[in-house]
Amino acid sequence: MPQIRPLIAGNWKMFGLGSALAEIELLSQELLKVPATTRVAICPAATLIDRVAACARGSAIEVGGQDCHPEMQGAFTGDVSAQMLADAGATLVILGHSERRTLHGETDGEVAQKVLAALLAGLEPIICVGEDEGQRDAGKAVAVVCGQVLASLPDQLAGQAFTVAYEPVWAIGTGRVPSVEQIAEIHGTLRDALTKRFGQQGQGVAILYGGSVKPMNAAEILRVAEVGGALVGGASLKAEDFVQIIRAV
Ligand code: PGA
Repeated sequence: MPQIRPLIAGNWKMFGLGSALAEIELLSQELLKVPATTRVAICPAATLIDRVAACARGSAIEVGGQDCHPEMQGAFTGDVSAQMLADAGATLVILGHSERRTLHGETDGEVAQKVLAALLAGLEPIICVGEDEGQRDAGKAVAVVCGQVLASLPDQLAGQAFTVAYEPVWAIGTGRVPSVEQIAEIHGTLRDALTKRFGQQGQGVAILYGGSVKPMNAAEILRVAEVGGALVGGASLKAEDFVQIIRAV
């Protein structure tokens, strides 16, 4: 089994102004006291990427975008390309987050196109999948997540660095968390799907859990088999909380 280096990634969503750089400074100080076995990333709004990257320089903090356009440039008012994220200092990008899928109608096919753009720009994609509450209640969680992971991951990921995040939609921002058994079931299924698709490489892909990860539940979640880190929303905004989650690995 390839050794997986866990990743704790913070998704700042549409939060954070220049004053949030103080949290980056605090986080980089705190990370000096934590063993460097865990990867740590912050994905701020596009407006903050260059400042966060400058502030994080010399620290262990990696910087990511939250979305990108499938094209590298063009007449797409308001959009940001993968190349622009990289140019601003990002090395990662979250793609297919449920808020993009539900609020912007992003399909698996579009997510796959964005993954290709990310790879072209040299960014490591963090590809999100997850069922909604109705799908979970209907007993379709495994099927939904398998379908999403098949259709959102292009074949061109073979040989490239990437990460998958399982984020049940009903757990995001709600304070509700699936049981350890439910997380284990989906993560095991995802591992099988990745291994079937990418062989040995699929065994080394980190599969993150996301959805209401907090300092108080992080250790329990991160102990679950095949959980290779966390994608953290609300609790990543304060360095004090985020570092507790990193310490829980
Ligand atoms: P949350 O968000 O931790 O605030 O639930 C997770 C996410 O949306 O990535």
